[in-house]
Amino acid sequence: MTAASQPQIVVVADAAALAQTAARRLIDRVAHDNRAAVCLTGGSSPLGLYRLLAADPFRGEVPWARVHWFMGDDRFVPESDPLSNMGAARRAFLDSVSAPQQNIHPIPTAANEPADAARRYEDELKQFYRADRLDPGRPLFDLVLMGLGPDGHTASLFPHSPELEEKQRWVMGVPKAGMEPFVPRVTLTFPALASTREMLFLVDSTDKRAILGRVLAGEDLPAHRAYAQGNLVWLIIRAAAPEQ
Ligand code: 6PG
Repeated sequence: MTAASQPQIVVVADAAALAQTAARRLIDRVAHDNRAAVCLTGGSSPLGLYRLLAADPFRGEVPWARVHWFMGDDRFVPESDPLSNMGAARRAFLDSVSAPQQNIHPIPTAANEPADAARRYEDELKQFYRADRLDPGRPLFDLVLMGLGPDGHTASLFPHSPELEEKQRWVMGVPKAGMEPFVPRVTLTFPALASTREMLFLVDSTDKRAILGRVLAGEDLPAHRAYAQGNLVWLIIRAAAPEQ
């Protein structure tokens, strides 16, 4: 197992402050002259951030023409399904901003099966990266957003699943989700998610306090195994922060 990066913990007052802080960090990460890549996450935690990106002042600060949007994991359902992570991101911001369609890179959930979607998405990522191997000195993403599940999962990397051990592939099909919704998933693997200048976990709910305490205490849960070539940051609302 790759050693977990030493995380930086940023505690903010509430969910509104979390969304603001995440939006500011995203804009800082894509503020360079080249094309930029952001890997989005599913679930409810990023929705406040997504809505902010669709509204001023942040909407006016994102260099939409240069930023490419990927998804760290998705449920194997059509984008029109309420369970779709890319569908939710589109509805929350991508549909209402001037992001070029070719800059939006959904996991192809219309493929025959999750493993096929994973192969295709891995090819798409490799084409974007212009190489077949990840170079630690040249991260694939500028920013990777991550969520924390109640069982310690992150992306669709569930406790005790074989995907946790993957070192070569960038994307994998997950035939059986470890928790609801029990639909098959497609997920980026740890090495692909780690290829980023910043990995930013968003924890915006008090319900996550106990599991977050276990992850930060070093228990061998998927979210603890996540690492990043660049900064690893946990952005947490005060009510979810473990006691000192
Ligand atoms: C998914 C996610 C998943 C999510 C966590 C947290 O597709 O389910 O990407 O890893 O981030 O379960 O979800 P919430 O933000 O809804 O708590």
